[in-house]
Amino acid sequence: MDLFEYQARDLFEKHGVPVLKAQVATTPEEAKKAAEDLGGGVVVVKSQVKIGGRGKAGGVKVAKNPDEAEARAKEILGLDIKGHITKKVMIAEGADIAEEYYFSVLLDRSNRTYLAMCSKEGGMEIEQLAVERPEALAKIPVNAIDGIDEAKAREIAEAAGFDAETAAKVAPVLVSLWTVFEKEDATLVEVNPLVKTGAGDIIALDGKVSLDENADFRHPDHEELRDIDAEDPLELKAKELDLNYVKLDGEVGIIGNGAGLVMSTLDVVAYAGEKHDNVKPANFLDIGGGASAEVMANGLDVILGDDQVKAVFVNVFGGITACDEVARGIVKALEILGDQATKPLVVRLDGNNVEEGRAILAEAAHPLVTQVDTMDGGADKAAELAAAK
Ligand SMILES: Nc1ncnc2c1ncn2[C@@H]1O[C@H](COP(=O)(O)OP(=O)(O)OP(=O)(O)O)[C@@H](O)[C@H]1O
Ligand SMILES: [Mg+2]
Repeated sequence: MDLFEYQARDLFEKHGVPVLKAQVATTPEEAKKAAEDLGGGVVVVKSQVKIGGRGKAGGVKVAKNPDEAEARAKEILGLDIKGHITKKVMIAEGADIAEEYYFSVLLDRSNRTYLAMCSKEGGMEIEQLAVERPEALAKIPVNAIDGIDEAKAREIAEAAGFDAETAAKVAPVLVSLWTVFEKEDATLVEVNPLVKTGAGDIIALDGKVSLDENADFRHPDHEELRDIDAEDPLELKAKELDLNYVKLDGEVGIIGNGAGLVMSTLDVVAYAGEKHDNVKPANFLDIGGGASAEVMANGLDVILGDDQVKAVFVNVFGGITACDEVARGIVKALEILGDQATKPLVVRLDGNNVEEGRAILAEAAHPLVTQVDTMDGGADKAAELAAAK
């Protein structure tokens, strides 16, 4: 999960990284009030979007007083930066910048380690620097056990070419940034720019943090960092129901048991779709092993709530999951949904208790349900029905 800059700033502050005072605003009036709260002097109004290059896109502007902050916020709120609409701005104290540096630490998957990157030449164009003058960007592997202690931080600062005095000031900040990375279970902590002020202080002026969602169980407090507004409503609903669901862009809803089977179902449906108006899978939904009738009903509920879906293919191979349970789930789901269920369902059951499962569906004889014997046959039928709609 990527964080907004203001959220990264808060995590920095929590772990002792020097940051500037700042407030978040969603209206120009709030921005003015924030600038007043910050002392009424120079502030910077910054678009809060989860994409780089805000400054160049006009999303970072200096304001000399609260009235200017209001005016700048008016310009920046609503601003579209590479498809991301600005809904919040951060009002930060203005810094007296003497020099701009770059620092990041990230998970380096290909080398199976962490990697720290540091440069004396920070600012807005670090990607360009990395390509044009790679020697100006120090890259130092960081061992997961040892992390970045004071000595390692010195090594990084020296590799970046800082003079001894600046290195001594930068090093403790790098140690604190590592603390953020480690304690919050991040996969990226990036500061661009890390600045030296006229007074010689080191401050993180910008922050980009990605958190590892696999570690969410260790961080109940990370829940509130989620940007619920930006999440797909169907994926949110699925998450609440504990379903393994990913929304895709096609017309054929897919339900299966086991990730492998669902993946191959996506493939055969995409293949079958080539013969039927190029329809494509609308989602990935794995109801897992031992899926109960209730799980089936929840799954169908989510998929039928997707307006793009024209037909649904339920592809179940009963192992731990019993086909009769799944069949009961389908019947129950259609009962619950009643008139809201308007899309055809193609059902292929095989494996554990298949006879009982098929019998249950045959007896229910729901007009929307078609039973098929094979996976390829089911994919073809579902694609055909979706194309006909
Ligand atoms: N609080 C501040 N005081 C003074 N100048 C600032 C402040 N915040 C940012 N700046 C200036 O604006 C520049 C751009 O800011 P920032 O790094 O936050 O945005 P960005 O790099 O354009 O955005 P992104 O990180 O999304 O690419 C900084 O390099 C710095 O020169
Ligand atoms: Mg930046």
